[in-house]
This record gives sequence, C-alpha cells and structure tokens, in this order.
Amino acid sequence: MIKETLISQFQNRETPFYFYDMDILRKTISKIKAANTYGFHVHYAIKANANKEILTCLFDAGFGADCVSGNEISKAIQMGVQPSKIAFAGVGKTDKEIITALEAGIFSFNCESLPELQVIDELAGKLNKTAPVAIRINPNVDPKTHKFITTGLTENKFGFNHQDLTKLAALLKSLKNIQLTGIHFHIGSQITDIEVFKELSLKVNAFSDWFEEQGLKLEHINMGGGLGIDYQNPETNTFADFEAYFAAFHKHLKLKQGQELHVELGRSVVAQCGHLITRVLYLKEGQSKNFLITDAGMTELIRPMLYQAYHAISNLTSKQEEHAYDIVGPICESTDVFATNLWLSEAKRGDLLAIHSAGAYGEVMASQYNLRDLVTSCTSDNFRS
Ligand code: LLP
Repeated sequence: MIKETLISQFQNRETPFYFYDMDILRKTISKIKAANTYGFHVHYAIKANANKEILTCLFDAGFGADCVSGNEISKAIQMGVQPSKIAFAGVGKTDKEIITALEAGIFSFNCESLPELQVIDELAGKLNKTAPVAIRINPNVDPKTHKFITTGLTENKFGFNHQDLTKLAALLKSLKNIQLTGIHFHIGSQITDIEVFKELSLKVNAFSDWFEEQGLKLEHINMGGGLGIDYQNPETNTFADFEAYFAAFHKHLKLKQGQELHVELGRSVVAQCGHLITRVLYLKEGQSKNFLITDAGMTELIRPMLYQAYHAISNLTSKQEEHAYDIVGPICESTDVFATNLWLSEAKRGDLLAIHSAGAYGEVMASQYNLRDLVTSCTSDNFRS
C-alpha cells in the first residue's frame, strides 16, 4: 500500500517512473536474516535491480553479490562489496569480463562449459593467478515455472550436462590455473513450489557425492536463486516464504564437513518494494472492450509482454466502482499490453496507476525503443517531485 501523502506528491512528478518503498525492502531484508538461521551465504542477484539506493541497503546488510557481467562486478566493488563475496555466472563470459574478475579476486567463477573452463585457465595463467571455479551443473529439474524463465532442463543452454562430467573431471585435474571450489545450480526463476527445491537438493547430493568419489573436494555448494513471490496478492502476501526455502535446503541437502551453502536471491528480495507509476493518457472504446492507454509501456516494464506475466494494477487516484479494461501502453506494438479484462476503479484521463510487484526485472530491463526517454526512479527515502 503506497501512503496517501506520497500519492498526492506523485501528481507533480513526470510519469512514468519507478517508485521503491524502502520500508518494504528493509522488512524483506529482516525476514531473510531471521529465516536464515543456518548461516547460509546470501548473494543478491544484481541483475534483478541495480538501483543505487537499493544496492546500498542490501550490501550494507551484508549480502554478497551474484553478477552476470563485468560491469555488474565493477558495480558491486564500487558499492563496497568485498570481492571475496562476489560470484560470477553466465554462459558467455568475455575475455575482458574474465580478466576483470581475475584482477578483482572474486569468490567464484560459476563456470558453464568445458571451453569456458579452458579460457579461464588460459587467462588466469597469463595473469599468474589461480581462478576459483564452481561448476554450474544442469540437473534437469523442472522448476514448474514459465518456460521462458526455466534454466535447469537439459534443453536449456545453461550449465554442464550429465554427459560432460567425465571429461570435466579429467580436465579439472589437468588445468594448472583453476582451483575447483564448488558446484553451482540455478534451475529457474519465480519458483513457488518449495518441493522443487527438495527435488533439486536430492539431485545435488548425488552430484556432490560424485565429485567426492573423483577425489574432487568441494568447499561450497551454490543453489542459485529462483524463489518466487505472490504477484496476485502483493498487498496481503508481501514477503516470499524465506523460512520454507532455507528449511528445504537445511532438511534435504547433505552438506559435507566444513562445506558452505550459498544462495543467489534476486526477485524475492526486491520485487515487492517496486511499483511502476504511470498516468492514464486516454480511454478508448473498442468494439467489445475498453482500452485504457497509459504513458508507460513495454519500454518501462516488459515482463507482461515477454513472459505473459501478471502484475496487479491499481488506480491510485480514484476509488470509484470497478470496470473492466484492457490496459495498454503507447508503443507501436500489438503486444504492448499490461493486462486484459482487468477490473479497476473507474479511470479518467490523468489518473495515476500503480503497476505492482515491479521491483525485480523492471527498471533494469527498460529500453528506449521508439526513442523514448529512459524511465527514471525514486525511493520513499528520497522522494522528490
Ligand atoms: N543466479 C543466476 C545464475 C541467475 O541466472 C538468476 C536469474 C538468479 C540467480 C536470480 O534468480 P531470482 O532469485 O531472481 O529468481 N527476467 C526474468 C527473470 C530472469 C532470471 C534470470 N536469472 C523475469 O522477469 O521473470
């Protein structure tokens, strides 16, 4: 719920913009800390939201960083994260990015293929360094989420497949500049069925035993991210089930003596603190429906268009009787639709709408398509109209 005093100030600010409620973010951080009674290492996945104030809040709280580009690594370091708390994933790490990570002395390269491993070894050799590597394994576990955000099935491009492992063991023993430190998994995002994490844990136990049998010691297991949030009821169910998530690993993972557990949470940390604020431009009567045209579109929030994602929307200006609308953006694309047949308080030109649960994969995925201005943002701590 956005405070009434803020809503009246929103009137004077140019729309669209992202609004981040820092109280929600701080409460989410407290929930994560309270639920993590097991001493697991939490890395925040910067790709979900790289707003400076959000990052400051998360890194001040002691989270490490999960990065997928050289720029994310540089950003994390610039924000004060110790390199020893930075994990680096991605199927297509460039030489430049690998060198950035080697020079910084990060915690772990989460390596996704045999050729990548060889390149990391070669570049580390040139710099006279040893690269700490966790092998990202594709465990073929169905995360039961949207197919576009599924990453841990054999058909996906991510991680080592089962058939690569024998070759991998031999290669790891021959490469001079690589130190195997762990194994890494990330099977998808917006996972709401906690049983999936149990299934993953059981597979991870088998992989962990296999490495041990090869004489390859693992200092850590990294379970990736993926914990989902409630997009349908953001107001009544604001926080992800961090207790159940951590408990699933505690219960089902068999960590070996001294082995650390790492996770990389993105969406569940920042999604609910963010709202995209947009203004109604026009109401247009269609043949059989009412279009409500907003000044935000897929350039500001692409999730509904890219993944058929649902985001709750409310009218901040009016509390009238509800009507059904198709809420659409101004972009010259037929898919530029936020919601179809959505019941919303009767709207008029100039009303402000909030598109909720937009703190994760919202602002970071914005574009300037149609040469639009890049969307701006503000937080409850620094709201300026
Ligand atoms: N670790 C790795 C290696 C990842 O690839 C990701 C997300 C995460 C951690 C964080 O996952 P999370 O806790 O946020 O689920 N743009 C899509 C989501 C893409 C997720 C990419 N990887 C969306 O808007 O739904």
